This record gives sequence, structure tokens and C-alpha cells, in this order.
Amino acid sequence: MSFTIEFQPLGIRLVCSEPLTLLDATHQAGINLRSDCGGAGICGKCAVQIFPSLKENPLTETEITFLTDNQLAEGQRLACETIVDSNLKVMIPSGSVIKGQVLQVEGSQKLIHPDPLVIQKMVSLKEAALNDLASDFSRLQQAADNKPLSANLEVIRQIPALLRNNSWQLNLLIRENELFNVTDQLLPQLLGLAVDVGSTKLACYLMNLETGEVLATKGAPNPQIAYGEDIMARIAFGIKDIEGAGMLHSLLMQSINQAAAELCAQIGVSPSDIVDACLVGNTAMHHFFLDLPVASLAFSPFVPVVSDSLNPLSSEIGLDSMPGSRVFAPAVIAGFIGSDHIAFLVAEGFGKNDGVRLGIDIGTNTEIAMQKGGRIVSVSTASGPAFEGAHIRFGMRAAPGAIEHVSINTQGNVQIQVVGNQPPVGICGSGILDAVSEMRRLGMLNHRGRLNKSTPGLRLDGQGNSVFILSELEKPVTLSQNDIDQILLAKGAIRAGIDVLMDYLKVKPDEIEEVLIAGAFGSYMRPEHAIRIGMLPEIPLPRIRAVGNAAGAGACMMLASKSNRKKAEELASRVEYLELTVYPEFPLFYAHGIQA
Ligand code: FES
Repeated sequence: MSFTIEFQPLGIRLVCSEPLTLLDATHQAGINLRSDCGGAGICGKCAVQIFPSLKENPLTETEITFLTDNQLAEGQRLACETIVDSNLKVMIPSGSVIKGQVLQVEGSQKLIHPDPLVIQKMVSLKEAALNDLASDFSRLQQAADNKPLSANLEVIRQIPALLRNNSWQLNLLIRENELFNVTDQLLPQLLGLAVDVGSTKLACYLMNLETGEVLATKGAPNPQIAYGEDIMARIAFGIKDIEGAGMLHSLLMQSINQAAAELCAQIGVSPSDIVDACLVGNTAMHHFFLDLPVASLAFSPFVPVVSDSLNPLSSEIGLDSMPGSRVFAPAVIAGFIGSDHIAFLVAEGFGKNDGVRLGIDIGTNTEIAMQKGGRIVSVSTASGPAFEGAHIRFGMRAAPGAIEHVSINTQGNVQIQVVGNQPPVGICGSGILDAVSEMRRLGMLNHRGRLNKSTPGLRLDGQGNSVFILSELEKPVTLSQNDIDQILLAKGAIRAGIDVLMDYLKVKPDEIEEVLIAGAFGSYMRPEHAIRIGMLPEIPLPRIRAVGNAAGAGACMMLASKSNRKKAEELASRVEYLELTVYPEFPLFYAHGIQA
């Protein structure tokens, strides 16, 4: 027996034939419902309102924990906890939908000296004659400076007709010694696509490979987010069954292809004009876009399937581009240090000099590299998604309506700055960092991060917990002790990673000549607050620099230049990976790091 679920205010109707969770129903209906934990019942973000209320379906413990009294009074339920088997109307509150976040595609400006792997060469051949019986392909090799070329059958089949219809002229598309395509005309420009595949966003760049110019950029959300905000939730979905992994790969490639098509449309070309590509990402994303099994990333010792760089045909991974073209997938370092880290190091010139440098790419897993002398040592620290708003009661990403900056005066009056100058509906990582730092400055938090109960602006929430009011304009946006704890755990993980590297390489804070912070959060974060709450060591502020999406910049550099690919290979073989969990002093540094 079939039944219908109607999603409002979107006006989407879904006909179902068997019972399913409301979260699965939203996936099937193509609705981007927030589900930060991927349906594990531990984030409380998938709240929806249901009509008629499901009386026969009592509230679960999880729902009682996460839903406020107001939400329960409105008939809200958690979509991942609610099984539906009859007609239902579902109202999706605006706070439960994944909104377009501020997607960062800009890296710091890099001068790219183009030296592309793919070249084109227009050749004019001598016409075949009875006294010159060389084959078409040998004739073509001669014209290409007697370069020994290989070509697959598909390409060789096209050559005779193209030659004879085009006065024995032909444009060769050559990648190293491989003739991978032929056209009748010289292409107006050689186009390449670079993509930084992040867990939450895709940063896509269309480049002219002959000039090194970035012609168009586009940010797009990673569609896998509907299957879990954090990587482990997606890996868990991917190993549940073979279809899950395939679906996560296809979703990703569909979005990359769509972004590439939009970039091409901007400059009046088509994806079939793209002759080369470079995709980077953390190790899980790398495995997803290459359609590799992810099970080994789910369990200790978390080893990748392959760590060397790969150069598969675009068609092997479902990327729309010129037939015969390939995708460069740089090396990954470890289960939690991917090719985006290599791209970051390439972009920021790690290994070029002997100075003491610290590079931090903040995300759910934060990768940190420290260079000293000829050594580069990298760690990955599980900082969690708190800086992206997950596990925070009113947390959200840096989307319109997110509080991005907070200052508090001695009377406890709060001033906020909101993304998009809209009424605040939540708070993003940089806002939470500011708030915690300000509360610490004013003594509202003690050194262990406990809220001082006499703090002005404190109020009891529906569950009797003390919360600090940040705003009450659109709806209350508050910070609780639990929210503060989450931030302290996140910053503690980052600080412990830095401390381990300083300890391992015998570096003192004042010896660090430069700190480079990558990622959207790094661009919005105020370094003085990061130092005040102990996320960063005491380093003079002018030495701290936000570098935007350095991984995207590095992907562009590798796309357009063989020598940058070589640098990436050298870095991959040179970077020493340090596993934090086996570093004897790590627990001590972590315990110290989580203090306010
Ligand atoms: S609690 Fe439902 S998706 Fe996290």
C-alpha cells in the first residue's frame, strides 16, 4: 500500500511504498535537510514539524534530549528518529535546511608560470602518394618532430577522415608521449579544471593552461552533506552496502560536472573542451571521487587504499571532459592527511627555504604542518565540526544569518556582526570563537572554561541550563556551557597538534617566523582571539596570515604546471607524518589545550 508525504513550504510530494525514516524520505525527495550526524541521532539538527502528530509513535530518548519545550509543543520531531508508514504533512523549519554557505574559492594570489602537461600542435602532413606510402599515423609522428607517440584505437580511427577532409592538416592534443585526441582546428585555448573537493564545499576553477590564468571560479556545496556532516558518518554510509558508496561517488561527480558546465557556460565553451583536470581533497574525498573502497578509512589503523599520485582517464571517474583526457589526483599522506594538504604545501611554498613555518588548515580534521630546516612534519588532529557549527545548539556554517563576530563590553552588552546583514538565526565558528574569547577576557569564564554564574546576560533555558544570550532579534541565539565545552575541545585538539609539532621539532613559539591559516574559518577568525583562548601559541600578530583556500590555489598550480606536480611528488615523499595518538606527550598537551 502506498502513502504520500507532503513537504511544505517546498510543495514537494513523495509517494512511498514502504515504511522509511523521514530523513530517508527527505533524501529521496531531494531536500537538503540538515543531518550533521548523518542520521546517527546525536546532533539534533534534523527537526521537522509533523501533521497530524504521530501519537502512536512515541518520542524517543534522543528527541526528548534535543528538542526544546517549544519545539515539542509545535509537534516537531527528529527526522532520523521518525519512521513513517502513512500519509503525512511535514513542515520543514527554515533552520533545518542546509543553506548556501559562504563558499570560499579564493586562495591567496599566486603567480603561476604555465608549463602544462597537455599541449596542442597543429601539423601539416605531406599527402600520401604512390611514391610515399607511409601510413597516416607514421606521417603524423614525423610531422610531430618525430616524437614517438602512442594513441588508442579510438583516436587512430578518427585520423584518416579528419586528414583527408582538412587538406592534410590536423591539430594534435598530446599529453607527454600520448596522442589522446585530434581536432581539425587549433583550440582557441587549452582549458583545465581544478577542484578542491572539501567535505562541505567544492571549490572549482576553470583555467587557461597556456597562460596560467584562472578564467572562472565557482563554489558549490558538497551534496554528500545530506548523508552526514562529518566524514566518518559518510564513510559509515558508504560501507553499509555497495550502493551507498556508489551513490556518494555519483552525487559528488554530478555536482562537479554541474559546476564545470556552469563555469564553461560563463565563457561560452563546453566541458568537452576541458583537456586536463586536477582534483584534490582529504583522503576520504579522494577515495570518494576516485570511487575507491572507503572501508579501510573507517577502522584503525586508517590506511588509504593507495597513497601515490594517480592519473586516471576522466571517463574512469565520470568527469565530463574531452574524450581521452585525464585527471591528476596528487598523492595522499595518510588516512587523515589528503592531497589537499599537499596542495596547501605547494601553494604556500613549503620546502622552499629553511625557515620555521607553521601551516594550519582548519576543518573537522585539522591538518597542521611545521617546517624547520629541511624537515616538514605534518599531523592531523580531530578538531571536530564545532567550528562549522555542528554540536553547538545554535551553531551553523557561515551562511546568511550566522553571527560571525561578537564583542562584549564590561556591562555584558553584546555587539554582533551577522553574515549578509540579516537577522541572526545562529552562530558560526568565528562568532563562537569571539564570544568565548570575550567571555574569558571579562571573567565570565574561568580558566577551566566554566561559566561564572553571576555573569550578566545569563538565563535559564527550558531544561534549566544556564545560557548566555547573544541575540534575541529573530529568535534567541544563545551559548550554553555545553557549546563552550565543544569549542574548547576543538581548539584544544588544534593546540595539542601544534604543541606536539613544537615539541617534536624543538621549536619555541617566538621562533615561528610565519603562521599560515587556510580555509574559510581561518579567513574570518580573529587571530588575537585565537591566541587569547590558547588555540594558537603567543606569536606576534603580524606573523599570522590567512591564506584563504590554499588547497584550491595549489590544485590550480599543479593543473597548469608540470614542475608544480613534480614539487608535489617531492613534498609527498618528504613530509613526515606523525601519528598524534601514539605520541607519548599528546594526552598531556591535549589536557592543557582544552583549558580556556
Ligand atoms: S539527530 Fe537526526 S540527523 Fe542527527
